[in-house]
Amino acid sequence: MKFFIDTANLDQIREAKDLGILDGVTTNPSLMAKEGIRGTEAINSHYKTICEIVDGDISAEVLSTTYEEMIKEGEELAAIHPNIVVKIPMIKDGIKALKYFSDKGIKTNCTLIFSAGQALLAAKAGATYVSPFLGRLDDVSTDGISLIEEIRLIFDNYLFDTQILAASIRHSMHIIDCAKVGADVITSPLAPILSLLKHPLTENGLAQFIEDSKKMA
Ligand code: G3P
Repeated sequence: MKFFIDTANLDQIREAKDLGILDGVTTNPSLMAKEGIRGTEAINSHYKTICEIVDGDISAEVLSTTYEEMIKEGEELAAIHPNIVVKIPMIKDGIKALKYFSDKGIKTNCTLIFSAGQALLAAKAGATYVSPFLGRLDDVSTDGISLIEEIRLIFDNYLFDTQILAASIRHSMHIIDCAKVGADVITSPLAPILSLLKHPLTENGLAQFIEDSKKMA
């Protein structure tokens, strides 16, 4: 399973990278705006910096919603660095754009997936990744993990190459549940990744070992 970090914050990206387990980065307009990134030049420069920090797939989302504009914007984003993955929303023109980029060999991530049917359409259009949003489904009392299971079954039935990139991760159990049901990738904020490390018995056990090691001196 690949681990991506879901942030545009460079310090958090560096911290995750330094752990040695980071395979890529996803961003979205909300995450970019949170870092104060404004204007095309600053946006493109930020993506370039992320690509220089992490050697892996870096999702950069288009801001437009018509086919023609998404193609223009996506091509400009893809030209920033070979590792850029053009992130396209799950809308009708988005499906057409996924097919266009797929035919051109440009990687894509279809975002805002909330149903198996949407994932199936994106896979048919040749998306590299589909991003089902677990946390936002859980927020409206719908089981996000069941959606990952459904998509896994459908993709396996037809041997689709499209990878399931579980997004909107809110806590470490989401990551573990994604691993159990076979998500190809999780994209998570830094905190849930770091909380995978924690167990009180590990902390207590280590404290005891450190104490006992003094008797060995
Ligand atoms: O990047 C898309 C997704 O991960 C957003 O997560 O927490 O805003 O629902 P969230």
